[in-house]
Amino acid sequence: MQSREIRRTFLDFFAQKTHKIVASAPIVTRNDPTLMFTNAGMNQFKDFFLGNQTPENPRIADTQKCLRVSGKHNDLEEVGIDSYHHTMFEMLGNWSIGDYFKEEAINWAWELLVEVYGIDKERLYVSVFAGDEAEGLGKDTEAADFWKKWMPEDRILYFDKKDNFWEMGDTGPCGPCSEIHVDLRDDADRQKVDGSTLVNRDNPLVVEIWNLVFIQFNRKADGSLEELPAKHVDTGMGFERLCMVLQQKKSNYDTDVFSPLIKEIEAASGKKYTFSYKAEDKSDIAMRVVADHLRAVAFTIADGELPGNTGAGYVIRRILRRAIRYYYSFLGIQEPFIYKLVAVLAAQMEEAFPELKAQEAQVARVIQAEERSFLHTLENGLQRFENLELSDGLINGQQAFELYDTFGFPIDLTRLLASEKGWQVDEPAFEKALQAQKERSRKDAKKEVEDWVVLTDNNNSSFLGYDTLTVADAKVVKYRMVASKGKQHYQLVLDRTPFYAESGGQAGDKGTLSFGKESLAVLDTQKENELTIHVVNSLPQNLGLPVLAAVDAKLREGTSQNHSAAHLMHAALHQVLGDHALQKGQDVDDRRLRFDFAHFQKVDEAELARIEQIVNEKIRANIMRTEDRAVPIEEAKEAGAMMLFGEKYGEFVRMITFDPGFSRELCGGTHVASTGEIGLFKIISESAVAAGIRRIEAITAKTAEEYIKSELGQLNEIRQLLKNAAEPVRMIRELQDDNRKLRKEIEALLAKQAAAMKDELVKKGENRDGYTLIRAVVPINDSNALKNLAQQIDHELKEVVIVFGAVINEKPQLLVLISKELAANSGLHAGNAIRELAAAIQGGGGGQPFFATAGGKNVAGLEAAIRKAGELF
Ligand code: SER
Repeated sequence: MQSREIRRTFLDFFAQKTHKIVASAPIVTRNDPTLMFTNAGMNQFKDFFLGNQTPENPRIADTQKCLRVSGKHNDLEEVGIDSYHHTMFEMLGNWSIGDYFKEEAINWAWELLVEVYGIDKERLYVSVFAGDEAEGLGKDTEAADFWKKWMPEDRILYFDKKDNFWEMGDTGPCGPCSEIHVDLRDDADRQKVDGSTLVNRDNPLVVEIWNLVFIQFNRKADGSLEELPAKHVDTGMGFERLCMVLQQKKSNYDTDVFSPLIKEIEAASGKKYTFSYKAEDKSDIAMRVVADHLRAVAFTIADGELPGNTGAGYVIRRILRRAIRYYYSFLGIQEPFIYKLVAVLAAQMEEAFPELKAQEAQVARVIQAEERSFLHTLENGLQRFENLELSDGLINGQQAFELYDTFGFPIDLTRLLASEKGWQVDEPAFEKALQAQKERSRKDAKKEVEDWVVLTDNNNSSFLGYDTLTVADAKVVKYRMVASKGKQHYQLVLDRTPFYAESGGQAGDKGTLSFGKESLAVLDTQKENELTIHVVNSLPQNLGLPVLAAVDAKLREGTSQNHSAAHLMHAALHQVLGDHALQKGQDVDDRRLRFDFAHFQKVDEAELARIEQIVNEKIRANIMRTEDRAVPIEEAKEAGAMMLFGEKYGEFVRMITFDPGFSRELCGGTHVASTGEIGLFKIISESAVAAGIRRIEAITAKTAEEYIKSELGQLNEIRQLLKNAAEPVRMIRELQDDNRKLRKEIEALLAKQAAAMKDELVKKGENRDGYTLIRAVVPINDSNALKNLAQQIDHELKEVVIVFGAVINEKPQLLVLISKELAANSGLHAGNAIRELAAAIQGGGGGQPFFATAGGKNVAGLEAAIRKAGELF
């Protein structure tokens, strides 16, 4: 079975069991502060498990793009070394939200693996939870009993919390689990060693393929477990491993998920892949690293995250750099090349994940730019390496750390290069420096979030802010304290709120919450999964009072104007630049809109003018907003609504339209009722954000009006300065021309004057033993000109000592020049001389034997210094 069919079969199987098949959530998580990347299929259903939301259909299945490179589940360093760890992988999953439980989950897993996929049941083992006294949890005999129906008891193995209690992160939904393992060894080996002794022992041929989690608890921040109101099933099957089993391979990398990529890498490097997992076969490891990391990076970029210096962007930058180091060090490739693999991957994945194909060119460009710049850094690192100053041939910890931190050299690259030169590396010291850095960044990132204090049973919070800006008699549902970087604040959740929580690039509302007479300022409104969280500095005296929640209407108005303008501009971008100009990010608040989109070159002045013109026309046309709050997603697609990659859409979506023929987007933001309210639209800048991504910043309404007023004010001032010229531009050009001419004339005059001055000075030269002394205070007010004059005289006279004084920027300056040969042979020293002379101008200075300068404070002392020079020389 090809991987495509394997995936399809899974989804069809669960569709038949009345599961709703949904799309993979984006690989980068949004609105969940506990998680950076999707690390399991269940992430997108977290609110269902916690009871904050209810799904349409309690049975769901999908294949989810996952990334395990940070936080609780982190496999990065393993990847490439063995045959089955990955950064990005697909997780096939089926879910029951308060519907079926252990029995069906187990029966169906068995049916699919054995009857549909035809896996030899003699090769299967299962593990169940052995219980945990400290947590107060018993043995999962229930699951074991259901398994007994299918397999003998000696293949049902009990494991403890480490292996058989699944948790998403430090907090969140969790529960005991039951894993299915498969033994892929050949018969001889299976006879020798019983497979049941190899389960959970890191044997590459006895691997877990499916994890059935029975979600019953929520892990709270204080570490305790809280029983959930309903019981759920969350299963996850590693797609790549399943392909290995069904295609009868010994490694995930030998399946058709990876082999097309490995083939390309072989071609690009001219090296053969030898299927080796020995530590010394570096080029095999490197090929696996590149094939794996490409997938992680390409899918993450397609979902809207760019390589960067913080957060998720930094993580993918590190992954990509790891791949580059491997091909640079072990495949002999010195040019960007990973980006060329994007096309292969996109074609391979098109059916399941069309978002990559649709953005292939842009994703490739971002990767190429990143490769180019990191290869450059690596080259610099090699130079740095060549120039290291070592004592006793030892690269010390600090040096190794600098190579690692600044130039991206992993320690094994440094070790390799060192051994080629017969040098040593102080690795323990390097480790120490590395740990110290990790500790620092851990401290920086630390944010303490306390558990919610729940005040009412009703855990719902409804958002009313599309229709109203004030809500009376709301109730606090729960609150908690959050501390980060030593600052404390509180987060409140209300049962009903008009506050819009930051999302989709629109800033959160500000305003006030009034508890009777006491009023708290809402500093920001954020979203956590589907909860609206009001951020306040302190708690009110009485949390039980009815709350009057009021959004700051002025700020909301400005934000809505900018958000609607962003929609109009998005449509205009498509008209002017083409359909590829898709939104890549936005940041809208009450002051301005910032909009990032895919486009490969600078948007020129004429295009910008055209975009502005279209948007302003649409504003003047005063188009009414149509808002459909709950359109089935398929209907919205058909209606031509603009959808974004990397967004998670539910079954029903909100659709905002300003003229069905012009702008129609799926959007949760707030908008003006008709475009006339935007008043005016003005672009203020256009720039590059990353390879293939441009940014436009624009302002609207009052802000645009004020901007134009201030610009016109400056123009008026210019006019007045030009004596009310009718054509200020022509007049300024004339002034510039005049200015250029005058400057030229002055330069010519100055040159003449300098020549005359030089002649004069040469004439006044005093004869000394073997050289001429020239000393004077000269009327020059530029230190370069002063130096030039001295050099010219030196050039003319050859054996000369020159001492000049001058006033430059109202400060005294001294210069001593001694012809080079003279300085070398006579013992005369400009630097020493100037130290003595500078005393007269209350200054200091120094320099080389043949040239020195000094500044000072006392202009009146210049003459004295020149007199003194007569004694020194
Ligand atoms: N959440 C479980 C896992 O990631 C099962 O989906 O293994």
